[in-house]
Amino acid sequence: MHEIIADIRRRAATLDKRIALPETDDARTLQAARQAADGGLGHPVLVGSPEQISYRAEQAGLDVSDLETVDPLDTRVREDCAAVYLEARQSKGATEEEAYEQVADPMVTAACLLRSGKAEGSVAGAVHSTAETLRPLLRVVGLEKGISVVSSCFIMTTPQVAMGEKGVFIFADAGVVPQPTAEQLADIAIVTAHSARLYLDCEPRVAMLSFSTKGSACHSDVDKVVEATGLAQAKAPELLIEGELQGDAAVVPAVATSKAPGDKLQGRANVLIFPDLDAGNIAYKLVQRLTGGEAYGPLVQGLARAGMDLSRGSTAEEIANVMAISALRAEALG
Ligand SMILES: CC(C)(COP(=O)(O)OP(=O)(O)OC[C@H]1O[C@@H](n2cnc3c(N)ncnc32)[C@H](O)[C@@H]1OP(=O)(O)O)[C@@H](O)C(=O)NCCC(=O)NCCS
Repeated sequence: MHEIIADIRRRAATLDKRIALPETDDARTLQAARQAADGGLGHPVLVGSPEQISYRAEQAGLDVSDLETVDPLDTRVREDCAAVYLEARQSKGATEEEAYEQVADPMVTAACLLRSGKAEGSVAGAVHSTAETLRPLLRVVGLEKGISVVSSCFIMTTPQVAMGEKGVFIFADAGVVPQPTAEQLADIAIVTAHSARLYLDCEPRVAMLSFSTKGSACHSDVDKVVEATGLAQAKAPELLIEGELQGDAAVVPAVATSKAPGDKLQGRANVLIFPDLDAGNIAYKLVQRLTGGEAYGPLVQGLARAGMDLSRGSTAEEIANVMAISALRAEALG
């Protein structure tokens, strides 16, 4: 386990946050809940049918009988969650009947627990796709104040310890928004800077990436990154955000000196913001595979509460890691 993740787990252990887990039909999720409870990473809240949970736990050779369970089909739970759902969705035309139907789904129940504060974080996505995981969160939980878009970042560890934050970077967006507008890209840069501060415990140095460095190429895609850089700088003047920069000018000081003299980052970026999902997703997978580094994510950002997505290949340990990350995010969101 990389030191960054060990540090996140240590910090989460001091917080004791309530983390909802709606994929309780999945043995890895139950194992992660057990690990998190035993390791003090947080307080797991199992969302699902108690009978099914004990059946699945028994099959996996686990005892989770001491863990808190919320049954979406319990009448009281269902009525409470339906009221929360309605509060979130009435303005979009949701009816009482629809709300009552929707909250029978544990993924929606978990989103309602988050919105109402009965859970401080949630973790799912080991079974459901990113789209299936994010939709209930987008609909019920909504956006962080002042932020226009939900996105995701990856913590990338590399052997290049002279680069980034001792070889560690945050990449975004690599998982959610296919073609962000300039305004959305600016917000992605700002929330990712906050994620870097939270997860890496460092001062973020943000590079807005492009195939152009400071006017070296002309194209509407470049214009978008230039505009996003200006918007992000104006909206968050306290953050160090530079662009537009090519990848090498962002992370190699010698290249920055020659291609972007006067640039405040000087090739020392630890946060890389990609112009679209193609670039971000391809980059994170190639960096992971070509450098033998690790990629932790997608870590959802921009939501009003600490809802988190998982990769479907996640192991129990990785799910427990994301529970710890959710706990940190919950603490930061207050
Ligand atoms: C995130 C995602 C699921 C949203 O899908 P969608 O079809 O737009 O979702 P919905 O239409 O159900 O949207 C629900 C609400 O959230 C809003 N919304 C959608 N995406 C949003 C985002 N990224 N940020 C903020 N709000 C968003 C919608 O406008 C809608 O609002 P409303 O209901 O209040 O009008 C979609 O962008 C997606 O699939 N992204 C790619 C994810 C993916 O496949 N990743 C794998 C590669 S790693």
